[in-house]
Order: sequence, then C-alpha cells, then structure tokens
Amino acid sequence: MKSGFLEKLIGRLGRIGPEEVQNYLIRLAEEKGFFETVFNAIQEGIIVTDSNGRITYVNEAACELFGLESEDAIGKRLDERVRGLDWDALSQSEGAISRDMEIFYPQNRFINFYIVPLTIEHRAADDKIDISARQVGHAMILRDITESRRSAEQTIESERLNVLTLLAAGVAHEIGNPLNSLHIHLQLMERKVRELDEKVQADLQESIDVARAEIARLDSIVSQFLRAIRPSKPQLHPENVNTIVDEAVRFFAPEIQDRELVVEQELRSDLPLLQLDRDQMKQAFYNVIKNSFEAMKRRGVLRIRTDRDDTHVLVSFTDTGIGMSAENLSRVFEPYFTTKSSGTGLGLLIVRRIVREHGGELSIASSEGKGLTLTIRLPYIDRRVRMLEAGTPESTTNQ
Ligand SMILES: Nc1ncnc2c1ncn2[C@@H]1O[C@H](COP(=O)(O)OP(=O)(O)O)[C@@H](O)[C@H]1O
Ligand SMILES: [Mg+2]
Repeated sequence: MKSGFLEKLIGRLGRIGPEEVQNYLIRLAEEKGFFETVFNAIQEGIIVTDSNGRITYVNEAACELFGLESEDAIGKRLDERVRGLDWDALSQSEGAISRDMEIFYPQNRFINFYIVPLTIEHRAADDKIDISARQVGHAMILRDITESRRSAEQTIESERLNVLTLLAAGVAHEIGNPLNSLHIHLQLMERKVRELDEKVQADLQESIDVARAEIARLDSIVSQFLRAIRPSKPQLHPENVNTIVDEAVRFFAPEIQDRELVVEQELRSDLPLLQLDRDQMKQAFYNVIKNSFEAMKRRGVLRIRTDRDDTHVLVSFTDTGIGMSAENLSRVFEPYFTTKSSGTGLGLLIVRRIVREHGGELSIASSEGKGLTLTIRLPYIDRRVRMLEAGTPESTTNQ
C-alpha cells in the first residue's frame, strides 16, 4: 500500500463526489485490516493511547503479556488495566523513554518497553506551512526479555558457584591435613597405651575409640561435601531410578527409626532404564529427602513416587512438613539461601545442577504449613537416540 494514498485523499477531499467516497472508504478499511494483520503478527506488544492515557489500540502480543481482552481494554485508561504502571510520570517525558519491568499476572515475566509520544502536524489550509505539532497520545512497544534475563542470572549463579567451589576445596584441603595428623597421633597413643596397666588401658582405649570415630565422621563430612560441590562430569550408565531411590532412603534408616518417620515408596515397576550417574543422582535424592526430614516433625510422612510419561521418568517427593512461603520458594535456588540455623543453603542448588546435567528439570510446589512436593523429571534414553539422524546406525552407539 502506498503511504501517499491518504495524503492524496486528503488533498482531494473537497473535490470527490459522493459515489467515490464509498470506494475510498473500502480502500481505507482494507488498509486498516492489512496493518492490523501486520501488527498482530509482530512478536512485540504494541499499545497506543490517546492524550488522556486511554487505550485506542492494543495488538495480540500485548494482550497476551498483560492478560487483556482487546475489546474490553479499548477506551480504558492504560494504568487501570496495567496496575502499577506509573503512566502519569512516564507520559510526561518529551522524548522516547525505555524501561524494564516485571509483571506478575497472568505470568511472571520481565519486560522491556519503550514509550514514544505520537504527534500530528497541523497544516495551514494552503497545505504548505507547518503551523504546529499536537501531541495525540503515546505508543508503547513491549518486548519480553524473560529468557535473556534468566540466562544472565544463570551465568551469575554459576560464577558464584565456581568461587564457592574453590573456597570449599581450599577449606577441605586445610581440614584434611590436620585430620590425617590426628589420626597418626592417635595410632601412636594407642601403641603407648598398650604398655600401661589394664585398668588405665581400658579407660584410655575407650576415649581413643571415640576420638577415632569422630575423626572418621569429620572426614566423611568433608569428602561428601567436596563430592557434592565439585562439578564433575557425570559418568552415565543405564540405571533403574527405583534402585537409586531405595539406596538413598537406606542412608536414613537410623533416623527413620529414631524419629518414627514413615517413608511410603510407590515405585512404578516398568520404568525404562535411564542414562545416569548413579552416585550423583543418589546425592540429589539424598539432599531432597534430607530437606523433607528436616521440615517434618516426629512421625511425619514422606511419599516417594516414580512414574513415567511419553518422554520422561518422574520422581516426586511429597512430605508433610512445614512447607514454604511463596517468597521463600522464589529464593530457594539462590546460593546460601537457608532458613535453618545450621543450613548451608546449597542442597537444592546441587540437586538442580545434577538434574540439569542429566538433561532433566526440577519443580517445587508448596504452600506454607502444608508440606512440599519436589518433582524431578529425567528424559529417557531412547528420546536422545530418536534425535539422531536416520541412516547412520553406527552413530547411535556413540551417543
Ligand atoms: N521439603 C521442604 N520443606 C520445607 N522447606 C524446604 C524443603 N526443602 C527445602 N526447603 C527450604 O529451602 C531452603 C534451602 O534448602 P537447601 O538448598 O537444601 O539448603 P539447606 O537445607 O542447607 O537450608 C531450606 O532452608 C528450607 O527453607
Ligand atoms: Mg538441604
């Protein structure tokens, strides 16, 4: 469509006969339809307002971002339809203005928008001299930047984790050496003790045994911590998730007994084998179960279910613990975020890292006081195989 069409029409307005008016109107309607199709095809949201901040046009992308109905929104004030938008301040600006904002309804998303004042030039009757430019409203262009923001956050997070890994490795190393030396000196003491008389020997031997057990405990804490935090490449083998769940639960046998906790396992028997690093996945399940036990009182119930759908194996952990508030839930993967006096705030971060390294994903649902469900989704082996190109059978074994 020629952009000069309107200009020409306006120029000839005084001279056109009534029969021509209909043709021009049809042409205008077509042109409007054409632009509407284009505007709705654009990924960016577009909202146009009049000079009083009332919506005169909104495209489909903008409706979707803000959860608006086009017919319902036209004629309404923009700041009424989009709560929290400081329209008065934004529309004061002489030139274009660009901002980021976070919206919570209908979905939590990050948006970058810019607002441009719309002006119409007034012409003198002879069509020659510009007299003034009148502001008739604003156009607001919106871009969804949620994904790019998330990936920026992930980069920051993995960098923070790197610093932490170095620190932890350093501390563990420092602790390891004195532990070794303590162990050697205990052995020396033990030898000397054997030369003493029996009564004294028995007493001292008991103390030495306690000290040795404590050293072993410290040693295992340090090495478990290191194993959990050091990002090592997963060693993948075909594994049955049910077996790993079983083994992770078994770790807690003494605690389950002491606190009379109930662990219900609903493990589906026909799960496909998954390519997993058994130790890492066990560590992930261990961290999740530990959190559930820490959130529950005596006699609490943890239900672990395994299931499958067309593409994934699902492992869900549902507890009857204290649950989490929405605010805490949004911070749960931040490094060091903990609500416990002796927590590290690293458990779930490690779980997520392990799950992601296996191509899976993690979700948490909870309401305060009502327990929590954490679900891990892990893709099947044959899904990876299906992604390969046809006709190259030898390459399937390499994947
Ligand atoms: N099953 C659960 N029930 C209630 N809150 C939980 C649960 N799992 C995790 N949380 C919350 O998430 C926080 C972070 O967990 P995590 O990363 O494992 O660190 P930590 O256990 O050291 O605090 C916990 O402090 C707790 O507030
Ligand atoms: Mg934890």
